[in-house]
Amino acid sequence: MYEKELKAIKKVNLYREREIFSDDLIDLASNDYLGFSEDKELFKSAYEKVLTYNSHSPKASQLVNGYHPLHKEFEEYLCRTNGFEKGIVVGSGFLANLSLIEALPRKKDLLVLDEFYHASGILASKLVDAEVVLFRHNDPLHLKEILNTYEFNRAIVCVEGIYSMEGDILNREIFDICNEKNILLIVDEAHSAGVLGDNLLGVFEYYNITPKSNHIKMGTLGKAYGSYGAYILANFEIIDFLQNRAKAIIYATAPSVFDISFAFCAMKKIERELESIKIKKEKISLVVKDVFGVKMDGLILKLDVKSSHNALLLKEEAKKRGFLIGAIRPPTVKKAILRVIPRICTPTLVLEKFLLELNDENNRQ
Ligand SMILES: Cc1ncc(COP(=O)(O)O)c(C=O)c1O
Repeated sequence: MYEKELKAIKKVNLYREREIFSDDLIDLASNDYLGFSEDKELFKSAYEKVLTYNSHSPKASQLVNGYHPLHKEFEEYLCRTNGFEKGIVVGSGFLANLSLIEALPRKKDLLVLDEFYHASGILASKLVDAEVVLFRHNDPLHLKEILNTYEFNRAIVCVEGIYSMEGDILNREIFDICNEKNILLIVDEAHSAGVLGDNLLGVFEYYNITPKSNHIKMGTLGKAYGSYGAYILANFEIIDFLQNRAKAIIYATAPSVFDISFAFCAMKKIERELESIKIKKEKISLVVKDVFGVKMDGLILKLDVKSSHNALLLKEEAKKRGFLIGAIRPPTVKKAILRVIPRICTPTLVLEKFLLELNDENNRQ
């Protein structure tokens, strides 16, 4: 039934397959920035925390009886640490973007997204009644121009703290523009929470920005925190509106209790081991800087390659050397790249040797 379509995908080297990789490979492909996915002590503490409650399952939507005491405890903790009025847990980052972007822009509003905003947000933008415009990646001037050109009731701007494919950090001026005009700013912190800032809380902390009523922070738990799920932090009214209008919150089973527990324990671990985590992160960043001469904003290293075919060859070559890296191809990105995540648990000498070889190999192709 889809033979023709699949053939066309294969012809241009864009065919995708799932694969279970050997545990022997050194993982430089996942978003597990801090190495928590292999932390058995963390797993045990999360499990023990869940055992203290009568129920370990979400059971239903949060709006029925799926709202668990652990969800509430976690939301309160996130509000305290990040300085927001109210929070709500969501099943995943994808669902959090769907919740926010499908619900907040109403008729006569303007929705403006960074052109490289995550696919979940772009998809959600197709469902809204509001006018939708993309602005040039991380370009405050273009954003300003759009905001000055269009008429709107409310405007909602969507950006990422660290961009998932480019690896670059949100331009601070975008905060200033939105604050000046009291425009709602959704910051997707999927790749910046757990990575940036004095307490590794994310881009708000990194820029020393005290959350205001026009700020919305979305964070995922499936990246630095080694778990699964997401949260949204904002003012009382916005969270209230979301729990009354966001379909991905109302009509979905509440987030997994264990996964929330794991992320909660991961955040506490970051608090306890903050200094040593930051030192490891700094060492890893220095290795990358030594090899490529660039300082990573977060923990994502993007390498340009000639073609999708080359990206796949380099990924296979890396595998032969014992390393797993991401070969990212269209439509995820406009042009194929290698996405390398130097997780902070990677031994620095091993990483340096591999990056030098990868760089040589890429230059040769
Ligand atoms: C920037 C960004 N936002 C949202 C998501 C979706 O989050 P999740 O994987 O938790 O659904 C991802 C990653 O998958 C992402 O990279």
